[in-house]
Order: sequence, then C-alpha cells, then structure tokens
Amino acid sequence: MPETRPKTFDSLEALEGYLEVMGRTPSDEGPGITELDHGLQCALELRAVAPDDAELHVAGLVHDIGHGLVHIRDHAWSGAETIRALLGDRVATLVGLHIDAKRYLVTTDPGYRVTLSPTSIETLALQGGDMSAEAVAAFEAWPSWREALMLRRADEAAKTPGREVPGLEAWLPALRETASRQVKAGA
Ligand SMILES: [Fe+2]
Repeated sequence: MPETRPKTFDSLEALEGYLEVMGRTPSDEGPGITELDHGLQCALELRAVAPDDAELHVAGLVHDIGHGLVHIRDHAWSGAETIRALLGDRVATLVGLHIDAKRYLVTTDPGYRVTLSPTSIETLALQGGDMSAEAVAAFEAWPSWREALMLRRADEAAKTPGREVPGLEAWLPALRETASRQVKAGA
C-alpha cells in the first residue's frame, strides 16, 4: 500500500482520494480484483441484505482500509481508528470487528469455515483462530455485533474478480450523509 495514507482521515475528500488509490491497489485475494473492487462488492452485498442501513454499507466499503497499515492480524482496529472521527463510532466498530467476526463465525457456525477464501483461511490462524467461550460472550456484548456478522459474510462474498458493480460514486451520498451526521453530533 502507498505511504500517502494519513493516520486519520480528517475530510471526506482525503478519504475519497485514498479509496481511489485503493482502486489501483491489487487485493490480496488474487488477480483481477483491487482493494476498492473488494470494498465496492462488499457494500453492495450489504445493501442487498440490509437496504436501509447506510452506515453498514459505508462500513463494508471501507472495512479493509487498514490493509497494509499494520500486520494483517491488526488491520481491522487500526483501520477503524483512521475513519472513526470522520464516520463515527458505529462505522468504526463495524470495521474494527470484522476480523473477530470471522473468528466468531468459525467458532459458532460449523458451515462457515468452508465459505472462507484461501487467503482468509491462511490469515485466520495469525488472527487468533477459534474463539474461547469468553471471547464469544465478549463479542456478543458489542453494539451492532449482529451487523458485524453481516459485514463479515458480505466480505467473503465480495471477492469475485471482474464482477461488475456500481462504482465509488454510487456510495458517495451514503459516505457524505454518514460524515455529516458526525459533524452534527459533535456540534
Ligand atoms: Fe475484506
């Protein structure tokens, strides 16, 4: 990933600019898909299952923004911190939980593991593998934990090279609306 990413995005323009950079960055998932393609597919999957939850769509769009920032094990919460001020605590939590959501689903849903991509399986062990009963309970104590599971399932369904999906411009209204809500909340 390029070195142009700030520690936190303080404007939508900066975030949009970085998402465009992600559109030129190949995804770890394999040839023919960029980091932005993956986010766009993820947002679309989420809109299909939760049409009225624009914050969830936005979280899907930016969920891997921490890729390349730190070790793959820690990219979820590091990425969450880059967008928390701009997009708010709920979007940050959804982004931050997307690795733990994988661990939760592997632990609690016997059929989930087979849906994981080879890259997701490879990183699972690095990310802590199965959860303890305490970790499962702690995960379920998060607000929006159910939506975090939706994001995770969408994440796995968002890795198709060459899939035609709406571009970044389709998500700008949701991004702007989410960001303006934070400005109002902080005013
Ligand atoms: Fe992802």
